[in-house]
Amino acid sequence: MRIDIITVLPNLLDGALSESIIKRAQDKGLVEIVIHNLRDYTSDPRRTVDDYPYGGEAGMVMLAEPIFKCIEGLQSEREYDEVIYTSPDGITLSQGESNRLSTLGNIIILCGHYKGVDHRVREALITREISIGDYVLTGGELAAAVITDSVVRLLPGAIGDESSALSDSFQDGLLAPPVYTRPSEFRGMRVPDVLLSGNFAEIDKWKFEQAMERTETLRPDLMNSEL
Ligand code: ADE
Repeated sequence: MRIDIITVLPNLLDGALSESIIKRAQDKGLVEIVIHNLRDYTSDPRRTVDDYPYGGEAGMVMLAEPIFKCIEGLQSEREYDEVIYTSPDGITLSQGESNRLSTLGNIIILCGHYKGVDHRVREALITREISIGDYVLTGGELAAAVITDSVVRLLPGAIGDESSALSDSFQDGLLAPPVYTRPSEFRGMRVPDVLLSGNFAEIDKWKFEQAMERTETLRPDLMNSEL
């Protein structure tokens, strides 16, 4: 898989995507993440990426020209399955959407900024608009990092234990059961006996019951929803 991210703040993404599992996935060749500085696609000496909006509102709008240049340049080199724009207007990211994106070959993520992008970019180039929740961020970089993280960890081989990405909270529409490690007793608090029993049928049953109970209590909205 290849993920091209277009941004005016490349440093913000470099840091977020060069640690831990996401770094390892790149080192193993499971994914290539390429960060493009939008200013490299400008043609004026000041490397301008935004301008005042027509109709006179507060805030700046990202220029169409450098974005078209960057995206069309990438598309002339390879096929892309999705050109994503991060925006609070988009569909809310879900595990189902991350699963879907993880099965694609190449994707572009354009990070929104300022008041947004010239609408012609959205009409002509963008195939999917994704929000990471109903709140407003300063820019789309953190949203792009969240999308990339949630997708890359699903790639086969990204997580040491193959089964662990599938047993995440949300993969079965339920929150994950509680987990414990050694010692079996800590400050008088004991790990549930069933986990120490070695009876895996009982352990699975306990985990499922806990997952149901936690979901019903903490996120009842998930109980009857689709991924
Ligand atoms: N840009 C600003 N806010 C955002 C959000 N909630 N999700 C995605 N991109 C954004």
